[in-house]
Amino acid sequence: MDFQLTREQELLRDTVHAFADEVLKPRAAALDRSREFPIDNYRRCAELGLCGMMVPETYGGAGFDGVSYVIAIEEVSRACASSGVILSVNNSLFCAPVLRHGTEAQKRKYLAPHARGEKIGAYCLTEPDCGSDAAALRTLARKKADRYLLKGNKVFVTNGVAAHTFVVYATLDPKLRHHGICAFIVERDFPGLRLGKPEHKMGITCSGSVEIVLDDCEVPAANLLGAEGEGFKIAMSTLDGGRIGIAAQAIGIGRAALEESLAYSQGRRAFGQRIADFQATQWKLADMATELEAARLLAYRAAWLRDQQRRCSLETSMAKLFASEACMRAAKEGVQIHGGYGYIDEYAVERLFRDAKITEIYEGTSEIQRLVIAKEILKED
Ligand code: CAA
Repeated sequence: MDFQLTREQELLRDTVHAFADEVLKPRAAALDRSREFPIDNYRRCAELGLCGMMVPETYGGAGFDGVSYVIAIEEVSRACASSGVILSVNNSLFCAPVLRHGTEAQKRKYLAPHARGEKIGAYCLTEPDCGSDAAALRTLARKKADRYLLKGNKVFVTNGVAAHTFVVYATLDPKLRHHGICAFIVERDFPGLRLGKPEHKMGITCSGSVEIVLDDCEVPAANLLGAEGEGFKIAMSTLDGGRIGIAAQAIGIGRAALEESLAYSQGRRAFGQRIADFQATQWKLADMATELEAARLLAYRAAWLRDQQRRCSLETSMAKLFASEACMRAAKEGVQIHGGYGYIDEYAVERLFRDAKITEIYEGTSEIQRLVIAKEILKED
């Protein structure tokens, strides 16, 4: 076992860190207020090869390994949490399933432009009445000649406002539960697809979350991803990868809260000394740093396992659970260390606190991660 990053990983970390500090961080507060999808950030990330990080170069990607992906998403999210999830969704929830399950024609057509960042991908699983129980989804897929007609509503679609292409999950028959679910590659311009209500969120305000309405949306049969009935397994194995991206995002947000708190606590004075000199503050900082380091190791391990093409639901759920809860604790303590200033938007921790919360919810709540972990460890006995 080797805990040393490779030279390439160190170079990537330093490059993305410098880029994020110079380009993403100065824009983050204004984007949070404007709620505008940060298309320029996305394009700049594309120039660094961050949109299709684990896609092979032959399909327009950067050909990085999973640990490099975690490193990059952490660095981006430390500066701008919305940009972190936007990249994570394009990489993990769009490019990854097309790469793993797509036909050669699908890969040629869809992978390259999304991996190069010329286009943006999204993932449509959640519905107004179905979130954690993904197998209960009700969006219908009806086969008609050489196409499928999709009917239903998808919500909380990250990247939705700007996305060119969506991986949509729909069922041939809800009574079949997960056996009836299919995955489709759906272009934004396919007849019958329209954007619905934008979501007005607490945090990561500019990640373009929107409802997607499918009103007998016409999808060519050639755009079925995998086989009929395989959609649920595609959705779940895709989320195994997605959860690594969210773990990385959480580590980045938590690290930003730690860095802001380190700086503030060494400048702010109370009772005749820096607040960093109080043990009450030091213990908070020590816990934040330790938990984030542990989260990073879990995320690296999960990413490494996924690179071996092994099923790693246990490890990805552990990484996502621990990282998101460590992130939330770091953000909470960050606000506490800043006192009243932590509660106003002139200080970054106010935004970080709002951004942190979603990491415990999307791509599987903490409760769902615990359920996956429990199922896996009970299976092992
Ligand atoms: N990889 C491959 N196959 C898997 C799998 C995985 N990770 N997980 C389950 N499966 C397979 C099982 O082996 C089983 O296969 P068989 O039929 O051959 O036995 C089948 O799928 C059904 O599995 P379960 O019985 O475990 O399924 P379940 O109905 O009990 O559901 C669940 C399990 C963990 C609760 C799942 O529904 C789940 O993860 N829910 C959370 C959904 C979620 O994370 N939603 C977030 C949406 S994305 C988002 O947040 C928005 C965004 O844009 C960022």
